[in-house]
Amino acid sequence: MDVKLRLLRYNPEKDSEPHFEDYTLEADPMDRLLDCLHEVKWKQDSSLALRRSCAHGICGSDAMIVNGVNRLACKVLIKDLSQPITVEPIKGLPHIKDFIVDMEPFFAGYKEVKPWLIVDEDEKEPPRERIQSPEDRARYDDTTKCILCAACTTACPIYWADGKYVGPAAIVNAHRFIFDSRDTGGRERLEILSGKGGAFKCRTAFNCTDACPRGIKVTLAIQEVKRAALYDSI
Ligand code: SF4
Ligand code: F3S
Ligand code: FES
Repeated sequence: MDVKLRLLRYNPEKDSEPHFEDYTLEADPMDRLLDCLHEVKWKQDSSLALRRSCAHGICGSDAMIVNGVNRLACKVLIKDLSQPITVEPIKGLPHIKDFIVDMEPFFAGYKEVKPWLIVDEDEKEPPRERIQSPEDRARYDDTTKCILCAACTTACPIYWADGKYVGPAAIVNAHRFIFDSRDTGGRERLEILSGKGGAFKCRTAFNCTDACPRGIKVTLAIQEVKRAALYDSI
């Protein structure tokens, strides 16, 4: 089938503004959008800039706005898209080139919530792995699925307007450790997330949940973190 793509192009070395350019190519309905972008890059215009790695929805590097919605280019099939297919970079982060944005502010928010296992410093090294019951593990199962693609954070209107908000992805990753029975840093993280750029900035817009390619209940995780902060209950 013929596929028409409208790609937002921007090269800061020669363009004063981003602008759309149209491309036509042959593709199979079962091809993914990423295959078509490769086709453009490899056969029509090698200057097209995009990030991707795994091509299987795991690395989280190819989040883009596809027909107005945040998606991973490697997880969306051509047959499911209306044409022309409009592709733009994700919003709310500095635009570098074509589909590449500066992810540093996103990862800065992520690092703020200390997304690693914290244990008491004076705790002795355990002789074996830290045991956890299946029920305790289930408590934070959903938020372990995050691949840090930024689709949620860059779909959030609060994040677009307020650069201090850590964003939903950071809160999802804080949730993953706050509710882990082996971790002792929950209160420290809740204090961080009770601050100015934290979870209470969220206005329950749900864009983040709609955007997540892993199906994580992002808004629910944020609500659980807010509740834990309010009632000091982990
Ligand atoms: Fe991506 Fe979902 Fe993680 Fe947000 S929560 S960064 S949308 S995988
Ligand atoms: Fe934003 Fe999601 Fe809250 S879109 S306002 S973080 S529910
Ligand atoms: Fe890795 Fe799409 S290329 S998630």
